[in-house]
Amino acid sequence: MSGHIILFIFTLTFNCFLFSFGVQNFKTWGPGLKPDLIILPARYFFIQSEDNSTDGVLNNIIVRVNGLDKSGNRNCRIWTNVLHTTDNIVIVRYKLYEVCYSLNIDVISKQDHSSLTPPVHIKGPVYPDDVVCPSKEPIDKWLSLYECKNHNPQMTKDLAKFPSIDYDKLHAGAVIAFNHSASMSVCNYVVINNQVYRRCYGQHTGFKMFMDNILLSLTRKVHLPDIEFWSNLGDWPLTQSVQYPMFSWCGSDDTYDILMPTYDITESSLENMGRVSLDMLSVQGNNQHRWHQKHSKAFWRGRDSNRDRLNLIDIGRAHPDLFNVSLTNFFFFKNEEDKYGPKQKHVSFFEFFDYKYQLNLDGTVAAYRFPYLLAGDSLVFKQDSKYYEHFYTQLRPWEHYVPVKKDLSDLVHRVKWAMEHEDEVKDIVRNARAFVRDNLMPRDIVCYHAVLFNEWSKRTKSKVRVRDGMELVPQKQSDLATNPCENSRTVHEEL
Ligand SMILES: *[C@@H]1O[C@H](CO)[C@@H](O)[C@H](O)[C@H]1NC(C)=O
Ligand SMILES: *[C@@H]1O[C@H](CO)[C@@H](O)[C@H](O)[C@H]1NC(C)=O
Ligand SMILES: *[C@@H]1O[C@H](CO)[C@@H](O)[C@H](O)[C@H]1NC(C)=O
Repeated sequence: MSGHIILFIFTLTFNCFLFSFGVQNFKTWGPGLKPDLIILPARYFFIQSEDNSTDGVLNNIIVRVNGLDKSGNRNCRIWTNVLHTTDNIVIVRYKLYEVCYSLNIDVISKQDHSSLTPPVHIKGPVYPDDVVCPSKEPIDKWLSLYECKNHNPQMTKDLAKFPSIDYDKLHAGAVIAFNHSASMSVCNYVVINNQVYRRCYGQHTGFKMFMDNILLSLTRKVHLPDIEFWSNLGDWPLTQSVQYPMFSWCGSDDTYDILMPTYDITESSLENMGRVSLDMLSVQGNNQHRWHQKHSKAFWRGRDSNRDRLNLIDIGRAHPDLFNVSLTNFFFFKNEEDKYGPKQKHVSFFEFFDYKYQLNLDGTVAAYRFPYLLAGDSLVFKQDSKYYEHFYTQLRPWEHYVPVKKDLSDLVHRVKWAMEHEDEVKDIVRNARAFVRDNLMPRDIVCYHAVLFNEWSKRTKSKVRVRDGMELVPQKQSDLATNPCENSRTVHEEL
């Protein structure tokens, strides 16, 4: 009987909301609406007006995210940031600085304070990202709670070459293959009982902090299966044969490295609302100009890390009406600074999008700015290249970007095409941004690593153990007194 009443009240409330936003249809989605299940450094969700005539409505919303501390006596500390994009979507992100209970998310109208979307109420605890509090759920369940995509075409392709790995057989050979201190920097990682260990080889191993950070981030959230792998700390892919598997940030048509999201996009996902200001969310919400206000030129800034970039300067000089391109630093071709300089001062990445057309040219390898360019509300021209990141296989030329030949011989022609095909161009820009929102957000980056490590563990036949010379990579202990973890996995294990 009481069940019926609850159902009735629920139906009533639900209808009510449909009714109240029947005038303007708002849709909300994103992991930030489930902050108790999906822990991220910055939680985020999207609000979209489905009615295109209500352009201004999204500028007149108030977003409130608040909750209580454990005692229930005061508000818990949360920082909220609302980003308005140029395509009728608002991105809300918020960061917790302590464990919150009774968390509410409300989107209301500035005029009459009416709710615009169904309110979200979460009992808690809702953990900040730095609490070491791995979920009680086994990893496969956790991956589905996080709504991680379990199919990644690049990963499928990479892993197909490594159906079974025995590190006890490989180890000695791998050390010989990869211990070349001058030319490469690599680390051998092991995760065992959710503790991270590593031993690095090479002269410049500072970038190990990026691998450490994602592993520590994951082991705070989930019990990773025991795994062993080698990770490349440099940009160049390293494996010419399938003998020694290597996890790398950049792949190429003639190597067999197993790709992970680059250290750049991974760090900007983990440091969202933290140390990094350019990330895949902020780049969507910092466009100063709408399309018709942008300069109709191709814009590019960067350093001289590839001969093609010098060629671009020649092309730009021959067509000043189409291009605004400059080098910002000379290092690789210092002796040509007279010809291709003087170097121009740095332009904020957000200002790139004051221009309609962006260029993505290889540097030493793939240019890691590509995901940010795709997110930023301009058309991207991408140079053909043998180098790629983890998501390139999912992109289609003419659907997400305009392809340009490696030697740039068709670049002028392509830019002119874009100027004469505004409608097609706007479709490509929209597709690129939709792709980014579906595939390259912080949750996707965390998920890609988790899925990869999980798949790798299934393929590893050798027993994972801490090898000679490995050191423990510790968590930075957050204050457990103020942020206790209530997930008692130990109880589970004793059963
Ligand atoms: C709103 O605009 C988008 C993109 O231009 C279009 O696909 C959609 O059909 C439009 N919706 C309405 C209700 O007009
Ligand atoms: C790695 O190479 C260095 C320098 O060549 C050498 O001193 C060191 O012993 C090697 N490490 C291993 C584990 O073989
Ligand atoms: C090129 O771009 C920079 C940065 O936006 C701007 O200051 C400069 O005036 C532009 N140059 C030309 C010739 O338009």
